[in-house]
Amino acid sequence: MDNDTQLFLEQLDDAINAATIDKTEIKKILQQCKRRIKRFDTILKQSDKQLSMQVHQLEQEFELRVNNERILAQQAKHAAMGEMMDAVAHQWKQPLNAITMLTDLLLMEYKEDKVDEAYLETYKKILWEQINHLLNTLAEFRSFFRPDKEKKHFNLYRAINSVLLLVKDEFMKEMITIKVTGDETAAIYGVENEFKHIILNILNNAKDAFNEKDIHSREMTCTIEQNSENVMLKICDNAGGIPLSVIKDIFKPNITTKAEGKGTGIGLYMSAQIAEKMDATLTACNTDRGACFTFLAPIHTKNTIREEIL
Ligand SMILES: Nc1ncnc2c1ncn2[C@@H]1O[C@H](COP(=O)(O)OP(=O)(O)OP(=O)(O)O)[C@@H](O)[C@H]1O
Ligand SMILES: [Mg+2]
Repeated sequence: MDNDTQLFLEQLDDAINAATIDKTEIKKILQQCKRRIKRFDTILKQSDKQLSMQVHQLEQEFELRVNNERILAQQAKHAAMGEMMDAVAHQWKQPLNAITMLTDLLLMEYKEDKVDEAYLETYKKILWEQINHLLNTLAEFRSFFRPDKEKKHFNLYRAINSVLLLVKDEFMKEMITIKVTGDETAAIYGVENEFKHIILNILNNAKDAFNEKDIHSREMTCTIEQNSENVMLKICDNAGGIPLSVIKDIFKPNITTKAEGKGTGIGLYMSAQIAEKMDATLTACNTDRGACFTFLAPIHTKNTIREEIL
């Protein structure tokens, strides 16, 4: 209540108490009341208008942010898909070459009259091995991009290895060896396919760094450790480290040191977002050999998950 209103009410109170009020006095007070109510009404309407304008502005900003996040996520997914297609193409090259060679061989052996039932049996077995390899890669690729939104416990060691299965040939061609060591039983909680994108982003960044700096002996290590509270995954390389000019900002969007068309700067931003959704953290540092990424996730016991659901 403002001072004027307070004073006015006191005056009104005094007048009533003194009981000296006459008709004209009452009319005067009523007029004052009406003016005051009108003034408050205008102020209220103005504040209401201002408030709804602010709410509208906030809604628009929120919508814009959600939209931007969606576009970034979509871009990151497309980039990952492109990189993965390259990896799959490498993975398919070798079995496809083998199948082509086998068909040529079959014709040659047939002309030399060497093809009998036993020959065809062996031939079929070899052919199926190659076809199975193609099918396995395809199945893994499809599962990687399935919009699987279900959070569950999954084995960290197996999740890493299923990404490695897809990029194996590509990394072999680039002469990068990747060693996975540590606790093979550790489980973390989240959407497994989303987590695999973190691994893929870190692996691809290391591959780019090896090529940029032209490193010859290329090594990566993935180490899993767990205690009663956390699961920790460390992925390190010997590619010389993250440039100091960007190291503080690499988890922000659009931070890249790569030439246009080679990097958009979304990979690590998306990875950090995925980690956050898992209540985990993703951090990076440089060692004397190269970059080291640490993914630290809390152990969700069955009880804490039940509490979350409730
Ligand atoms: N292992 C690494 N070694 C050296 N620098 C790295 C490594 N990982 C990341 N970086 C640096 O961090 C930057 C950001 O990485 P981020 O994955 O977010 O984007 P990007 O790889 O440039 O583009 P993209 O969106 O295609 O992934 C990179 O441009 C690079 O400078
Ligand atoms: Mg990247």
